[in-house]
Amino acid sequence: ARITLRQLLDHAAEHGYGVPAFNINNMEQGIAIMEAAQAVDAPVIMQASRGARSYAGDIMLSRMIDALTEMYPAIPICMHQDHGNNEATCLSAIQHGFTSVMMDGSLREDAKTPADYEYNVAITRRVVDAAHWVGASVEGELGVLGSLESGAGEQEDGHGAEGVLSHDQLLTDPDQAEDFVARTKVDALAIAMGTSHGAYKFSRQPDGDILAMHVIEEIHRRLPNVHLVMHGSSSVPQALQDLFNASGGQMPQTWGVPVEEIVRGIRHGVRKVNIDTDCRLAMTAQFRKVGEGNKAEFDPRKFLKPAMDAMRDLCRERFEQFGTAGHA
Ligand code: G3H
Ligand code: 13P
Ligand code: ZN
Repeated sequence: ARITLRQLLDHAAEHGYGVPAFNINNMEQGIAIMEAAQAVDAPVIMQASRGARSYAGDIMLSRMIDALTEMYPAIPICMHQDHGNNEATCLSAIQHGFTSVMMDGSLREDAKTPADYEYNVAITRRVVDAAHWVGASVEGELGVLGSLESGAGEQEDGHGAEGVLSHDQLLTDPDQAEDFVARTKVDALAIAMGTSHGAYKFSRQPDGDILAMHVIEEIHRRLPNVHLVMHGSSSVPQALQDLFNASGGQMPQTWGVPVEEIVRGIRHGVRKVNIDTDCRLAMTAQFRKVGEGNKAEFDPRKFLKPAMDAMRDLCRERFEQFGTAGHA
């Protein structure tokens, strides 16, 4: 069955668990997520970026969700737009059957330039008004994602961490969070606390200086009923980096967000945890392994099946670690 983000995160808050939101671009990723969810009885958030929508096409994506809903009838599915950049992106997602959208007004429409606060409030409020009329949920974002560690990570504005933004702009301000939620009426709030998108988040195991878990704790203390969202939450497991590199890959050593820190966030109001990079890495490490192991292989299924299985195992692990398992 299809459910909204609000329904799912209300349940998660009541029972104290978090829900991984995995990105989906194709059938293999969809089946991997659903097989994992079915194995451990977990509810699902699948999200499609603007890039995913143009890669697969809206009709293909929306029919794929129909198919997955029919194939796994016992698993509740929330279909979510990841990083919507304007009203049109969010509303067209809802027209294609998405039950939830992210209006990321922390950036201007170009999805690069940091936006001012009033722009963010106004555009997010407009999307909330429209989405709530038709029963869809909205995630807003306050603060700009980016690594607090100089030189590491990619910021949402594409500049290095020593670029245009100060340390403060990379962390969500708790006072502003209170005002933002009251004025926009978002169902969930994505916050900036030192993570960035992609594999290259940190050049060492992150500590309290570069991963600002205290921001989550403070916002949760002030807004105990608001569902918080952590972006950039791939852990970039060492085992996957090693497998990738053992099969001819050349990925520089990197560190992601430790699962224990995410679990700590879940104890402080984090309900949605965005993960894309780990799934990508789990799949492409298998492509490499198969390619290296059998250089004559040309049946795509021989690559895609192990890739799908590896992503399934990763998703299952996160469902168990975040406490999502058993709550479908
Ligand atoms: O927000 C970033 C997600 O990992 C989606 O990435 O825009 O390349 O599909 P994408
Ligand atoms: P990762 O790149 O850490 O997987 O983050 C994904 C994300 O935040 C999607 O919105
Ligand atoms: Zn994100």
